[in-house]
Amino acid sequence: MKLRDILTDKIKAAMLAAGLPSDAEPHIALSKQAQFGDYQANGILGVAKKLKTNPRGLAEKVVAELEISDIAEKVEIAGPGFINIFLNKSWLAQQLQSGFSDPRKLVTTTDKIDTCVVDYSSPNLAKEMHVGHLRSTIIGDAVVRALEFQGHNVIRQNHMGDWGTQFGMLLAHLNDKLASEEVAETALADLEDFYRQAKVRFDDEEGFADRAREYVVKLQGGDAECLKLWQQFIDISITHSEDVYKKLNVTLTRKDIRGESAYNDDLAPVIKELTDKNIAVEDQGAKVVFINELANKDGDPSVFIVQKSGGGFLYSTTDLSAARYRAQTLDADRILIFTDARQALHFNQVEIVARKAGFIPESTQYEHCPFGMMMGQDGKPFKTRTGGTVKLAELLDEAIVRAKALIAERAIDLTEEEQDEIAQKVGIGAVKYADLSKNRTSDYIFNWKTMLSFEGATAPYLQYAYTRVHSILSKANNVQIDTLGSAIKIEADQERALAIKLLQFEDILTSVTADAHPHLLCAYLYELASLFMTFYEACPILKDDVSEQDRNSRLAISYWTASVIKLGLDILGIETMNKM
Ligand code: ARG
Repeated sequence: MKLRDILTDKIKAAMLAAGLPSDAEPHIALSKQAQFGDYQANGILGVAKKLKTNPRGLAEKVVAELEISDIAEKVEIAGPGFINIFLNKSWLAQQLQSGFSDPRKLVTTTDKIDTCVVDYSSPNLAKEMHVGHLRSTIIGDAVVRALEFQGHNVIRQNHMGDWGTQFGMLLAHLNDKLASEEVAETALADLEDFYRQAKVRFDDEEGFADRAREYVVKLQGGDAECLKLWQQFIDISITHSEDVYKKLNVTLTRKDIRGESAYNDDLAPVIKELTDKNIAVEDQGAKVVFINELANKDGDPSVFIVQKSGGGFLYSTTDLSAARYRAQTLDADRILIFTDARQALHFNQVEIVARKAGFIPESTQYEHCPFGMMMGQDGKPFKTRTGGTVKLAELLDEAIVRAKALIAERAIDLTEEEQDEIAQKVGIGAVKYADLSKNRTSDYIFNWKTMLSFEGATAPYLQYAYTRVHSILSKANNVQIDTLGSAIKIEADQERALAIKLLQFEDILTSVTADAHPHLLCAYLYELASLFMTFYEACPILKDDVSEQDRNSRLAISYWTASVIKLGLDILGIETMNKM
């Protein structure tokens, strides 16, 4: 259910009945303080200004027409003309009763199903995945899960960097290793090392660079031997990424891969189309598009190179082909691409050119979703102690080791095996939540201590809150909790606050997918868990002097809370457990 939409509809109807213009919007927002109710309609002020009339008088007229007594126990006009809405406890109870036991009912399946093509993770296969790909992978995966939960048709695209000139040197090196009887799996066990070796040979060894260039030509020309070698390289490298996805609990699979190589045959036709339409022009031997929309302050257009002077294609050419494929073949309503913010100009250029060329119709949204950098404690880009790039797989292993120490310290009644399983979920959850909870557009400082704390907005806190609710529910042994929906009543203020929060789940999900902002869900879950703790203190459940009626209602509310926490964490890709 969408609380905000329900209130918007009610106020809107009253605005129309009061004779306000039909484009006037109620602007429903959460009230910042309890004395101003639960929600506020702030839209009257703007309308009054336009109509040059007294906003308070106008608000009174709207309230006089408002039919909301079933939902609200009180409506007040405050300040210059805000309408404050205090929700009705029995209505809240009814809403909780009707959605009970099936979290799916919390969210109405969308009435407009969009085909959403989501490009995320997209590592370069020549090297190991590094922390830069962490953000793309987990933010993208959370948004994908949220879109799917709403009922959208999601097509994942892992736009892996599996093509390009660097493969010449890698294949030449691999060829030599295989010739000296090494098997590909061992040779490529550490991609970082392998890349380094190849690079040293490329820079220092006589004749190697020329052979590397020959390999590029052969590869692009479709030479069978060379393709076979390339395929081996790619397969092993993909396996490395898959290990990371598995560890990270990310939904990407092999069938979601559509790497750069998949567009190889489209590149020449794309350039031809751009030149035929006079969008790309020849400039110093290269093909470029001059983009006036992105001109600098001196009026010089932004230059977007789409083909190099020797005829070679570029990252840009591939992205133009990808844009066309996604809009036309996959029939996307929305195309979302998750990369770091440094690629913002690139995608801006791709979009402008692709639209000019008619590759993406007006009805398709092209959304580059940029994110900031992960920084070390020193405030500089996150690196190893010796200044190297941090391998993602190693970072995740460290998270699990650190979580294990934390769990072992607190563990009562947990076998070694259980501790390992919990450490896995807590360690990975901590890394994910710490990242997802920041507004993605800003840089953030990676800090083991804060992310692995049981206090504050962290995964361990939420996972622990979940086990708390779970243990309360399991202690109420002779009751079948999932049949208690009709027992729900809302009395105490703490219950009321918790109930409203629970019912806001869909509003939050809507804002998460509208702008690809999972941090809103992170904040919501933290607030929800905190409200539960407050509720539990004020409204005891298992104590002897609690009436059966109260106990059943409170158990049902707890059950609701557990479902929402679990569902929310699932969408973030964070696992829960029953005890820790
Ligand atoms: N492989 C690129 C990188 O590691 C990211 C690709 C993103 N997607 C795209 N369509 N360009 O930076």
